[in-house]
Amino acid sequence: MRHWSDTRTAALLVASLAVLSFAQDRTTEQGEAQITDPNQECAPYFYAPSSNAINSFPPIWTVATLLASDTAGQAKWNSISASIPTDIQPKGQPNGSTIGVTYDTVNDPDCWWTIRQCTTPKRSGIPSDIASIPEPKTMGYAFDDGPNCSHNAFYDFLASQNQKATMFYIGSNVMDWPLEAQRAVADGHEIGAHTWSHRYMTALSSQDAFAELWYTMQAIKLVTGVTPTSWRPPFGDVDDRIRAIAAGLGLETIIWKYDSNDWRNGVNGITPADVDADYGYFISNSTSGTFNTVGGIMLTHELNNYTMSEAIKFYPQLQSAFSHIVPIGVALNKTQPYVETNYSLPSFSQYVGGTTATNGSSSSGGSSSSGSGTSTASSSTASSSSGGSGSSGSSKSNGAAIAVAGVTPVLVAGAALLIASLAL
Ligand SMILES: *[C@@H]1O[C@H](CO)[C@@H](O)[C@H](O)[C@H]1NC(C)=O
Ligand SMILES: *[C@@H]1O[C@H](CO)[C@@H](O)[C@H](O)[C@H]1NC(C)=O
Ligand SMILES: *[C@@H]1O[C@H](CO)[C@@H](O)[C@H](O)[C@H]1NC(C)=O
Ligand SMILES: *[C@@H]1O[C@H](CO)[C@@H](O)[C@H](O)[C@H]1NC(C)=O
Ligand SMILES: *[C@@H]1O[C@H](CO)[C@@H](O)[C@H](O)[C@H]1NC(C)=O
Ligand SMILES: *[C@@H]1O[C@H](CO)[C@@H](O)[C@H](O)[C@H]1NC(C)=O
Ligand SMILES: *[C@@H]1O[C@H](CO)[C@@H](O)[C@H](O)[C@H]1NC(C)=O
Ligand SMILES: [Zn+2]
Repeated sequence: MRHWSDTRTAALLVASLAVLSFAQDRTTEQGEAQITDPNQECAPYFYAPSSNAINSFPPIWTVATLLASDTAGQAKWNSISASIPTDIQPKGQPNGSTIGVTYDTVNDPDCWWTIRQCTTPKRSGIPSDIASIPEPKTMGYAFDDGPNCSHNAFYDFLASQNQKATMFYIGSNVMDWPLEAQRAVADGHEIGAHTWSHRYMTALSSQDAFAELWYTMQAIKLVTGVTPTSWRPPFGDVDDRIRAIAAGLGLETIIWKYDSNDWRNGVNGITPADVDADYGYFISNSTSGTFNTVGGIMLTHELNNYTMSEAIKFYPQLQSAFSHIVPIGVALNKTQPYVETNYSLPSFSQYVGGTTATNGSSSSGGSSSSGSGTSTASSSTASSSSGGSGSSGSSKSNGAAIAVAGVTPVLVAGAALLIASLAL
């Protein structure tokens, strides 16, 4: 009798534990991916591999510096530093302020993207940026600033469409939200680097700029097992000096020609209508033939619920306007997007043929819903665009710095909590 009741109690206990752990599993990628309440998603958690390694990284959300104890980083720096142009000085402040900067904006000798979107280096031996993609009528699909703690609804949406994208992750976010970073790999997305602390890279010393990229690569490797071979400069702020550093680290520089300005919503008077108009321009450019020989890239973000909601809202129109929507690496046939060679992306033709899954991804290829059709998009309310297009901007935007500043305190708080749980 006693034996019976013990067994029963034990069974009940196991059952309730199972329910509990299902509801609150913040220890695995699979568990984390099932949380739907954004408040629960954004509650900090402890994850041993990254939390225990926090001292091997610069403090999160501060400009990275190369750590004296980091022998691998020091060795890498020493191996590439001779390839960095020494005739280009840091420009302005890490927050984007260019007060006091003098620069020959007519000749743009450093190919400083921020001036007039230069993408072909003025110095020899440095690769050009990728600003468009070779496949016609194709959109290179990419999202910056993640992993966002509350991205499950967005990633669920992408999965429901069997749609993969390139995720340019911020190193500090990866350390804060490691299980969310793992979801990108599990879902078959491509991961690129988006720096450690999201500052204006051309303002940093060469060694700090190196550290911004190096520690982002290390964080992504630590948490997801893969090391990216592409990066996207925050605010597009890159010049030949920064390009050389990225190239030394094996990183391809990916930029854009269209800006949704989703990240600027609410900054400097930019409204949701402006953002909708900028999405609309990209779509109407496509339907009017702009991408008939060379495909396009638009800057979009995983920054917050608004930017992710915009992406979901416009997805059907993008699908109508473009023949294919693919990750950047897929558009380039870059079947090995990582340093680790046992992990591959589909080629462009594989992807559009329905093989969208990556080798090593846990998600199944599923049936492809990828774009066919070249029907005309019902272009959205393309009213006025005080938001401007991606080709505006002859100076660094302080609005950008403000947008970043708005994000930072939350993350610093998250970090403090992570450290607090470490102390326990
Ligand atoms: C940027 O940083 C500089 C130097 O620290 C400071 O003087 C300036 O006020 C900052 N600008 C903004 C917009 O935060
Ligand atoms: C194409 O996009 C640009 C903004 O990048 C916009 O000014 C232009 O009006 C668009 N063209 C069409 C046909 O939508
Ligand atoms: C992610 O999005 C949520 C909801 O918009 C926001 O509260 C949070 O600050 C964002 N940032 C990160 C890094 O998760
Ligand atoms: C996220 O945005 C969507 C669409 O704008 C909205 O319906 C939803 O309430 C938002 N969620 C949160 C948590 O703010
Ligand atoms: C990708 O590969 C396909 C054939 O599979 C080829 O037609 C296309 O030109 C390639 N694109 C690039 C950018 O190499
Ligand atoms: C996966 O790996 C196999 C064997 O190496 C290769 O033939 C195939 O093309 C790969 N598939 C994808 C989607 O990368
Ligand atoms: C790739 O190789 C590494 C190291 O050998 C291993 O840890 C990882 O699981 C492998 N990944 C895949 C997708 O096979
Ligand atoms: Zn960014």
